[in-house]
Amino acid sequence: MNVYSYYDHTPISERNPVNTLSTPPLAPLLERLFEEADAASPATSPAFAGVSNEERERLMRSKTDYLDFYGQLKDFPLPVSRETGALLYMLARNGGARTIVEFGTSFGISTLHLAAALRDNGGGRLITTEFEPSKVARARQNLKAGGLEDLVEIREGDALRTLGAGLPETIDLLLLDGAKALYPEILSLVESRLRPGAFIVADNADYSPDYLARVRAPASGYMSTPFAEDVELSMRLG
Ligand SMILES: C[S@@+](CC[C@H](N)C(=O)[O-])C[C@H]1O[C@@H](n2cnc3c(N)ncnc32)[C@H](O)[C@@H]1O
Repeated sequence: MNVYSYYDHTPISERNPVNTLSTPPLAPLLERLFEEADAASPATSPAFAGVSNEERERLMRSKTDYLDFYGQLKDFPLPVSRETGALLYMLARNGGARTIVEFGTSFGISTLHLAAALRDNGGGRLITTEFEPSKVARARQNLKAGGLEDLVEIREGDALRTLGAGLPETIDLLLLDGAKALYPEILSLVESRLRPGAFIVADNADYSPDYLARVRAPASGYMSTPFAEDVELSMRLG
């Protein structure tokens, strides 16, 4: 099986070991959600045809226009890639993650990968946050369909507020996938709780040069490397 096909067609009794990501109900659900996302890319949407590349770049990097920008994108799932989804699952499994924080829920595709890892690790808690109410509703629906809603707390609102309090003592994995310009601020909110060895996956971090400079600095307390085309993978040092 390759990373493009989560659905394992061999009978359950012959599968070893069973994993939540590659079995129903989650595997066919993710296949459908990725297919729908492929068909609904903003890049091919008439709504964004008039937005120049320069303007798109500016909006992606803006610390002030993100509410409006993502508001216009509220009908788009904008998920991590299939490869990044698989990476998230593997990192969370390998680290035996029990506490995960996610910035940027959208329709919950990355959330499903992370929650599946918690399930296969024996349980845990995933706090994720999203300010678009319609996206929160869709994410809840998807988590329910995937049988993972018991592991996930969705905090509705701006992450600068929702992640400002009530975080677990220690956090094993952080996914940054909301407004790119806020990555440094969100890292600051969570940083003191990241356990040594915790992974941080920052999607499309190229849009956040301040974030990259911070995690790549020699005395930053992180080991960090670009990974694949669009991910910065960092590890909290002791
Ligand atoms: C790239 S999408 C997330 C995709 C999701 N992680 C996945 O892979 O399925 C980014 C999401 O972050 C949300 N967002 C952006 N800035 C936010 C903020 N400051 N607080 C909460 N949500 C935010 C947007 O509304 C959007 O739905």
